[in-house]
Amino acid sequence: MSWGLENRLSRILKPADGKTVMLAVDHGYFLGPTTGLEQCCKTVVPLVPYADTLMLTRGVLRNDIPSSIDTPIVLRVSGGSSVLEDDLSNETILTDIDECIRLNAAGMACQVFIGAPHQAQTIANLGRLVNEGERYGIPVIGVTAVGKDMVRDARYLALASRIIAETGGHIVKTYYCDDFERVTSTCPVPIVMAGGKKLPERDALEMTWKAMQGGAAGVDMGRNIFQSDSPVGMIKAVNAVVHGGASVDDAYAVYMDEKAATGITGPGVGSAVTADDSRKI
Ligand code: 5RP
Repeated sequence: MSWGLENRLSRILKPADGKTVMLAVDHGYFLGPTTGLEQCCKTVVPLVPYADTLMLTRGVLRNDIPSSIDTPIVLRVSGGSSVLEDDLSNETILTDIDECIRLNAAGMACQVFIGAPHQAQTIANLGRLVNEGERYGIPVIGVTAVGKDMVRDARYLALASRIIAETGGHIVKTYYCDDFERVTSTCPVPIVMAGGKKLPERDALEMTWKAMQGGAAGVDMGRNIFQSDSPVGMIKAVNAVVHGGASVDDAYAVYMDEKAATGITGPGVGSAVTADDSRKI
């Protein structure tokens, strides 16, 4: 692994504990203006100080995020699907390595659809991205997408995560499941937990705590933060679990204290989030 790639990896997985709180705001690449991301500049910028890394598209980065931030960027480079389709797996690489270098990306994220009609195409996307990432020293995050006919169990997620790692992915983003340790213990690279659809805050913190206990290197979480009624409270609480080893109760107190102190509320539980939004990812 080149010095540069190691250095970029250390900007994502913090050297102090090897863990990360990645704020995922790349949903628009196939969901459009989903609840909480109607105007990313308003939603995301206040959360940047609390995120170890931002995961987003180049469109949101260029148009909504100040170039002065010091927070490392993981660029969502795969795409080509939309929520209008049943099969989301027909993806390609839309953002090339030159653009990732120009945008000073610390990492590149690529969706992999194991068991979906375009499985091979998405694995090939990942392989090509890893080849280029290794050449220029930019790590690749493989994101396991769960096709609608797949079951989010340890057997499936362990398979998908391992295929990403075997293909050369440097970090795997996948969902929490029962027997999560089976997923992390059989994957030779760090795993970060996807937040998944919006849950009550305490449930999301409990899931985060369980994932950390199960060997996760952190989270790459979106809706459970920016659709919270206190997004800052929630990302602070997630940090308490990931980096501080806080219990669920203590983390929930962090969220409640922030919510009470600021009274700032976000969009709340995504009432406007259609079933489609949550069903797909
Ligand atoms: C697709 C994705 C989403 O674009 C997003 O990153 C998911 O984040 P969350 O589930 O925490 O809202 O990765 O699979």
